[in-house]
Amino acid sequence: METAALILCLWLQEEQAPVVQGRRSSLSGVCYLTMGLLVLLLGLVFASMYVYRYFFITQLPRESVFHCGVLYEDSLYSPFKGQLELHEDVKIYIEENYEQINVPVPQFGGSDPADIIHDFQRGLTAYHDITLDKCYVIELNTTIVMPPRNLWELLVNVKKGTYLPQTYIIQEEMIATEHVSDMEQLGSFIYRLCSGKETYRLKRRSTRRRISRREAGDCHRIRHFENTFVVETVICKKS
Ligand SMILES: *[C@@H]1O[C@H](CO)[C@@H](O)[C@H](O)[C@H]1NC(C)=O
Repeated sequence: METAALILCLWLQEEQAPVVQGRRSSLSGVCYLTMGLLVLLLGLVFASMYVYRYFFITQLPRESVFHCGVLYEDSLYSPFKGQLELHEDVKIYIEENYEQINVPVPQFGGSDPADIIHDFQRGLTAYHDITLDKCYVIELNTTIVMPPRNLWELLVNVKKGTYLPQTYIIQEEMIATEHVSDMEQLGSFIYRLCSGKETYRLKRRSTRRRISRREAGDCHRIRHFENTFVVETVICKKS
């Protein structure tokens, strides 16, 4: 901006070359004034950017860690019907726009501990099943997963009690499809989680039928929450 002003002034002086001395000096006076105003304007712009960053961005932590617990009614398996408890650690990265969830070995025996990343920038979710030490990747489902900012607000609001209000569980069923060899296409956050591990793409199974316990041998379950309800992600081998 300053350079542009300077060029404009030189050009004005050249154009006005044959004009008398008095006119010339008043012209350069106008130029100095313009430049002064521009510098002032730039200063104001930078100052307001700084104020904006200070008051609005630093208010949100770059990384927030929540230890969460939830009580839910297990309606999926009748023998286990009743109230269950699920714990997880949620890390929210608002600027980078992703969430990382760590599910320890759950109370419910049938599900696996896992690390999960929801990358909103890439629109991808990755599950690292710790029991199998395998990674599974699928498009992010925004009807199940709250965006970082909203999840952060939800968790800050329930932090006082550490428990979310009693809730319910939904099930989604996935089938592992092709092996992913080019890990870098998954973005740096998922890459960090999954590199060096066998990684597969997932496809959502459309038929809404429940998997019986008998045929569940080739399936693994991960129970997690990143919303006001619990999700059981069932990951099955392609048969
Ligand atoms: C997202 O999840 C919901 C609830 O399980 C499901 O009905 C919907 O089809 C899913 N959307 C996509 C794009 O997978």
